[in-house]
Amino acid sequence: MPNPKSYQEINQKLNNYYSNKETSRWQNNFHIEMPFGLINDPNGLSYYDNKFHIFYQWNPFGCEHKTKHWGLVTTTNFINFTKPKIALKPQDWFDRNGCYSGCGLVKDNELKLYYTGNVKGTNGERESYQCLATYHKDGIIDKYGVIIDKQPNGYTSHFRDPYVFIEDDTYYMILGVQSEDLKGRALIYESIDSVKWSLLGELKTDMKDFGYMWECPNIISISKGKHAFIFSPQGLEKEELKNQNLYQSGYVIGELDIKSVELKNHSRFKELDMGFDFYAPQIFKHNGENIMIGWIGMPDRDSEYPTYKHGWMYSLTMPRVLEYKNNILYQRPLDEMMNLRKNQLINIKGLASNSYNLALNSRSVEIELNLEINGVESTEIKFKFNDESISIIYDVMKQICLVDRSNMGIGGKGIRKFKLKASQELKLNVFIDNSVMEIYYQDGLEVTTLTYYPKSEGLELQIRNDSKITINELNIWNLRSVKYE
Ligand code: FRU
Repeated sequence: MPNPKSYQEINQKLNNYYSNKETSRWQNNFHIEMPFGLINDPNGLSYYDNKFHIFYQWNPFGCEHKTKHWGLVTTTNFINFTKPKIALKPQDWFDRNGCYSGCGLVKDNELKLYYTGNVKGTNGERESYQCLATYHKDGIIDKYGVIIDKQPNGYTSHFRDPYVFIEDDTYYMILGVQSEDLKGRALIYESIDSVKWSLLGELKTDMKDFGYMWECPNIISISKGKHAFIFSPQGLEKEELKNQNLYQSGYVIGELDIKSVELKNHSRFKELDMGFDFYAPQIFKHNGENIMIGWIGMPDRDSEYPTYKHGWMYSLTMPRVLEYKNNILYQRPLDEMMNLRKNQLINIKGLASNSYNLALNSRSVEIELNLEINGVESTEIKFKFNDESISIIYDVMKQICLVDRSNMGIGGKGIRKFKLKASQELKLNVFIDNSVMEIYYQDGLEVTTLTYYPKSEGLELQIRNDSKITINELNIWNLRSVKYE
């Protein structure tokens, strides 16, 4: 498939793709992705005109991180989507090298889109403009242009990813930025009308030396008097059980004092996803719930994702509801994701056996497993693809979970290791798609997202431990493919 060279060719290619269904190898069934080009951060997430609007970073012209557009799909149920279309094109002086990430705000019957215009000067130097565009119900978008002209003194031009939130009838915008001494920071602006903005200051936190850049900041209210500051820091040190990816995405929880621009008494940084491929999540509110979608990918690691050979790269996670319990954000798939269940393949309760093996002829399944771990030292859940495999190994005594992707031939490899508190039972909810897995542990206490590229079709599930296994409950469903119409 040659890359499209014009907007006309993009439209033709999209139409051909969705009418002929010529899906290429490893393309996923229920994760949002583009048939061609490179998708990265979710943007402008909002519920507007009775539909979920999911915008995203998209280079429709190829699999490189350049010519970033905003693409758009809408849905009411996360099963039926509109065909992808281009919402913002990098064609103006203030965004000519990329319409970078940003958010959506539903106001006065319109959807306002805030984004960063990325501009490269003649010597390659970066300029960042915060921009506004208005999306109308008929799908027409008006670019209003620049609302914040470059970064304030004391910061570099790494100044991007506006996220707007409302407190006491005032609009606030948080932006990811780098200080002149090369530290990651966030700036907060304030506005009465959501169009004219003035700088309030730098968000004060205890994280003075916490990476060299903070991308994609979000501030959400999670309960009375509590806010979560969610962001994607770059430049953190690797630790045995933390920060194992090149870049992280996570949060701290504290009390936001907006007048003094301070997040008081905040918790320590916690990663949102302990898997290999998760970055730049964005959160929006709907029906009182905080819903998050992340990017399944990692910047500066493109060569680990072999689908560029097929002309497409990366996906978005399923929408996840963030629930605040015990000072932690638990994650669970949005209820609508249950609509993906087609037919139930397995329903087992109370099975004791030496080991458990099950061949599944599909790689589009949901597995819900509750395993007895009382009296067990360690347990292994293996997903086998002929002679390749991915394992989840849980050390019950140490309460450490390991996800092992080193036995795969193509794509990223290695292990991820993290603390997981489980006693009595180990609970997994695994969403397996053609080349993506999202694994939720202990009702969403931890999640690992990963990509995998098996050479063979099909999947075999194996469960083993050092003694006899007891499956308290196992449910498996076939999942349907989402449709773009
Ligand atoms: C995060 C990011 C953002 C930027 C966008 C560009 O993945 O680097 O900071 O706005 O991607 O595509």
